[in-house]
Amino acid sequence: MQAQLTHLQTQALTAINASDSLEQIEQLRVRYLGKKGELSAVLGGMGKLAAAERPLVGAMANTVKEQIESALQQQRTHLETQAIQAQLAREAVDVTMPGRFVPQGHRHPMQQTIDRVTDFFIGLGFSQADGPHVETDYYNFEALNFPPDHPAQDMHDTLYLADKRLLRTHTSSVQIRYMETHDPPVRIVVPGGRVYRKDALDATHSPNFHQIEILAVDDRITLADLKGILVLTIEELLGKRPMRFRPSYFPFTEPSVEVDIWWEAPGKPGRWMEVLGAGMVHPNVLKHVGYDPEQVQGFAAGLGVERLTMLLYGIDDIRLLYTSEKRFLAQF
Ligand code: DAH
Repeated sequence: MQAQLTHLQTQALTAINASDSLEQIEQLRVRYLGKKGELSAVLGGMGKLAAAERPLVGAMANTVKEQIESALQQQRTHLETQAIQAQLAREAVDVTMPGRFVPQGHRHPMQQTIDRVTDFFIGLGFSQADGPHVETDYYNFEALNFPPDHPAQDMHDTLYLADKRLLRTHTSSVQIRYMETHDPPVRIVVPGGRVYRKDALDATHSPNFHQIEILAVDDRITLADLKGILVLTIEELLGKRPMRFRPSYFPFTEPSVEVDIWWEAPGKPGRWMEVLGAGMVHPNVLKHVGYDPEQVQGFAAGLGVERLTMLLYGIDDIRLLYTSEKRFLAQF
């Protein structure tokens, strides 16, 4: 019987070590250790043994059983580890493989100009303000000191709606709306407001364009403050450029200036391009909103977003800014 047990053990261990799947191991367990398995079959013969032999054979049978059990467990662990390793190898990520190209969008060049100029003024302590595109004559002209029927109103070829309201011709209307509802001191920037004029579309004009409006009102504001801030704004956006302040006229400022920047598009003769209008807020405008011009003064400016963007990137035709041509926009 001892020989039988030894034989059984050798046979079982060999089979277990040769097994290559978990099902096979389970089958071997049933075959050798199951209730009707081979070990039970051998032990079934115990009754025929002499009483003295029984403990010896019993102990041996236990050892065989333990050996087989431990071999089964070892082989199970071995196969499981192998399976996991195979899976890891299968699913390994090859970090050297070239990535898939996902094109990224970015802000429109005009939005970049708007954001940079707005951020600059926010950094100086200005707040953001906004106003409606459909305006009344009062906010667009009258409160800004345009006399009724004054030829200055012809400066803006205005688009009127059927109900006498109009599409704002400039963002200066926001000055009035803001001052009406806020006491001085005032420091606002109107970022990238759309404005409308009956202009014909050409390389530097569009019937629909964008302005950034600036307004500061306080008790000791001078033309020097305006000039300093405008020079800094242009330098911040465009770097140092040939730039000139030219006396001008707007009904809502006195004195008034315009700023030109030297512009050279490739292959064309250079010229000055007007990029903004500005000035000291006219006393009549301050009176219209209930401010006392003896107590406060202000400066204001309206910057042309399209033209600044053209200068920033060397774009020689305003119309390009209104295309959605991705190959064009991707350059900026
Ligand atoms: N609103 C003027 C325009 O559209 C630009 C302008 C000039 C704005 C002088 C201002 C200013 O705030 O003070 O032509």
